[in-house]
Amino acid sequence: MIFEQIATGGCQSYLLGCSDTHSGVLIDPAMPQIDHYVGLAAREGLRIRYVIDTHTHADHFSASRELAKLLKAPVVMHRLSPAPYADFRLADGEILRVGNMRLQALHTPGHTRDSLCLIAEDRVFTGDTLLIGGTGRTDLPTGDPEALYDSLFNIVLKLAPDTTVYPGHDYKGRSHTTIAAEIETNPRLQNRDRGAFVAMMQHLDLAAPTHLTEALRTNMSGGKTVAQLLSDAASVIAFVSMQDLKARVENGDPGFVVLDVREKDAYEAGHIAGARHLPRGQLELRVNHDLPDPTRRIIVVCEFGYISTLAAATLRELGFAQATALDGGMKAWRDASWPLTTGPLS
Ligand SMILES: [Fe+2]
Repeated sequence: MIFEQIATGGCQSYLLGCSDTHSGVLIDPAMPQIDHYVGLAAREGLRIRYVIDTHTHADHFSASRELAKLLKAPVVMHRLSPAPYADFRLADGEILRVGNMRLQALHTPGHTRDSLCLIAEDRVFTGDTLLIGGTGRTDLPTGDPEALYDSLFNIVLKLAPDTTVYPGHDYKGRSHTTIAAEIETNPRLQNRDRGAFVAMMQHLDLAAPTHLTEALRTNMSGGKTVAQLLSDAASVIAFVSMQDLKARVENGDPGFVVLDVREKDAYEAGHIAGARHLPRGQLELRVNHDLPDPTRRIIVVCEFGYISTLAAATLRELGFAQATALDGGMKAWRDASWPLTTGPLS
């Protein structure tokens, strides 16, 4: 078996392949590692046949949809998954054949209603059902401590004791464990009484994961994260450095338009000499009037450099082939004490 474990902070994802046929799968891929997974699969000569999410993640951004598009492989999830982009939905006990490798899905609700564990040969990928020295939490949407009790004690812990466990998370740098080790030492599994387990899970009092709302929104809908939206916009435009723009302004270079897309008050409080003002919210409405020459070189500026990136990408889409954005923003410009002009619109 070809096997790679890839950690993104505490999130664990896995590349798994059949060494005979070089067919493979990705399990729980995370957004920041997209290029890494594609590179690893290429290095191993693997063709990815399935991209699998063990459940709807609430704490990080799943890369399944992006990778599925990139690798032309279906997204696989449990049939109860709310994700509209899941192309292939598994039921309990069903098997995926990947070359000569077989991956069996076990429905193990509790952490979420759509949680799966995946068995491949001598190992099980437990998602957030069973962690090393812990279990998934049950206080997030669709979590259910009673269901987790059944999934753990009646399904996962009944697997062969020497089965290697690869969890969906580990924050302490550990990579794997075994069923026997968890039965023996996992503090959450020591009291096998259902009521005691449920009470324990209900009183963990955990902080909400960072990005909870955004992770649920994007993982449940297939929509983009804000970072993705910005990165997509950044990939279709060029940037101009702050030093370069300052030098051009000082030299009175007339070969470009500085377009300030902040709101009126911010613009009037201090802008780059000669900057034109066109707020982002009115860009599409006023563009034909304010920027009649689509061949003009435009340098878009905003407060932090994010909105200007989106605005420059929109201008490119509208045909302004020389629209660029400032690599930085007016905040950095002010922090550097570089010259500003105040007053009304120019
Ligand atoms: Fe999770």
